[in-house]
Amino acid sequence: MIGCILLAAGKGSRFGDKKQFLELGGKRILDYSIETVESLPQIDKVVVVLPQDSIDLKIKMSKDFEKVVGGSERQYSVYNGLLHLKNCDIVVIHDTARPFATSKMFLDGIENVKSGWDGSITAYKSRDTVKEVLNKKVVKTLDRESIYIVQTPQTFDYQKLLYAHKKALSENFLATDDSALMEREGFKITVNEGSFLNFKITYPEDLELAKALLKR
Ligand code: CTP
Ligand code: MG
Repeated sequence: MIGCILLAAGKGSRFGDKKQFLELGGKRILDYSIETVESLPQIDKVVVVLPQDSIDLKIKMSKDFEKVVGGSERQYSVYNGLLHLKNCDIVVIHDTARPFATSKMFLDGIENVKSGWDGSITAYKSRDTVKEVLNKKVVKTLDRESIYIVQTPQTFDYQKLLYAHKKALSENFLATDDSALMEREGFKITVNEGSFLNFKITYPEDLELAKALLKR
């Protein structure tokens, strides 16, 4: 059984609003992810993680789905979603702030985990040179060939991810993605093909970019 957690419990502090509920091309930003997941017969159950004060949000889905309340950090929102997805073999986690994730990104991740990887993360090779800078001083230039920009969906073996989350929780380890929790336990994670266009709406300018893309 394959479950999916759609994260929509963020506060949008950098954006200045709960961006996942704002309108983009005639629907809410989170509706893009809901529709993509709805169209995939491979996904059996969906958990939509929402802020406490938005738990009554109307969601249209014909699949088995549940709304659950998120936590103060993304990691806690995922953990709460995991607790509502018992009996799953594979779980896919996706930020609803990424409206342009493709079905292929979901399916490639699922295929990778089915073929034996503990996890698969959507990522693309950095187009830019990446440097480490500390106190405005350049410390190091990273080898671009091995630098990947990481996105969601991220797909995992359900039991292993649950284990990694419980361990992180007990050790007060907090990360910005789920793969990081798996990596520190030594699980084998691979990448599936992401895209520059699968950007996350983080700042208002990202929503402007998304609107401009839809107009073309
Ligand atoms: N998210 C969540 N629960 C949280 C924090 C984030 O479900 N406590 C979700 C967001 O709704 C978003 C995704 O995780 O879909 C990626 O997070 P991010 O872009 O950081 O969104 P916010 O946390 O809302 O924004 P900010 O960090 O600027 O406050
Ligand atoms: Mg955040």
